[in-house]
Amino acid sequence: MDDHFPEQIHVAVMPNEVLQGLVPKAGGVYLDGTLGAGGHSALIGEAIRQTEVTSEIKGGYVVSFDRDAKAVRLARTRFEGTNVKPYHANYRHISIAFKQLKIGHVDGMLLDLGLSSDQLADRSRGFSFDADGDLDLRFDTSEGRPMWEWLEFLTEERIADLIFRYGEERYSRRIARAIVERRNERKPIRKANDLADLVRHCVPKKHGKPGIDPATKTFQGMRIFVNDELGALEEFLKFAPALLKPGGRIAIISFHSLEDRIVKATFRDNPLLEAVTKKPVGASDEEVAQNPRARSAKLRVAQKKSQESSMIMEHD
Ligand SMILES: C[S@@+](CC[C@H](N)C(=O)[O-])C[C@H]1O[C@@H](n2cnc3c(N)ncnc32)[C@H](O)[C@@H]1O
Repeated sequence: MDDHFPEQIHVAVMPNEVLQGLVPKAGGVYLDGTLGAGGHSALIGEAIRQTEVTSEIKGGYVVSFDRDAKAVRLARTRFEGTNVKPYHANYRHISIAFKQLKIGHVDGMLLDLGLSSDQLADRSRGFSFDADGDLDLRFDTSEGRPMWEWLEFLTEERIADLIFRYGEERYSRRIARAIVERRNERKPIRKANDLADLVRHCVPKKHGKPGIDPATKTFQGMRIFVNDELGALEEFLKFAPALLKPGGRIAIISFHSLEDRIVKATFRDNPLLEAVTKKPVGASDEEVAQNPRARSAKLRVAQKKSQESSMIMEHD
């Protein structure tokens, strides 16, 4: 098995803000729905660890899911013998996974959306623009189809639509046309660097922010599409509140305005929840200077209402 991440390089964003938001309590049970390189899981695990005088772990553990089998394999080694328990699972199937793991309710949940720096650095999976790996873009390669396959049959309109909607790329139509022209010439896009070159030719040089590759938005749009990232978030938010203990908290870090909109609406409208953060919390300037990935991160936290108050709401 090829476990060639150069090494685990992903740095967890807003570590202090996540702990302040979740208020992890010793002996509690927590879900980290997006394990990645395990930075947040390790922090929560440390915060809830209850040890006996014998230093045996007595209680308090983190159940950590990731769709990426490779991330889970690495985490199993890293967290062996600790109170962080990695599982290969999609957080959208939280109810089924909890049943299988015999977990009833948890004290808190965290999602840190998007992709990890480890995935970006892995040149074989399509996330890295200049790599000649296949344009796959799936977190879980055992499910669905790779992006290059989608590009063989989606209509020009669908391609433009997904790049525009999920990538917020204003040159989406131009890019979609160029992709379909390549297909008609029997030279379909197959590799990540093929797509990056094509986008760079379609987007005017002056467009975009300095230092940001013009292909960024297109790759983001395709990744969100191929993994149905918004669908997964919506489904998770439908079931997750019922699986929290009263008073338990749910913290979500998003990197995309559509994700943040879904989180905000659920925290406002779900009768079981009460928003703790009225506005999203961003990373400090110091953190952004050290970890540029944190620049667009937005953290929102909600708390599950006590049973009495949610019953009052239901009768209203
Ligand atoms: C930003 S990284 C998380 C980084 C992590 N918090 C850390 O400290 O290392 C996001 C991770 O979520 C995973 N992921 C994305 N969608 C998922 C889903 N629906 N279910 C489970 N994991 C998912 C990705 O594979 C990726 O490893």
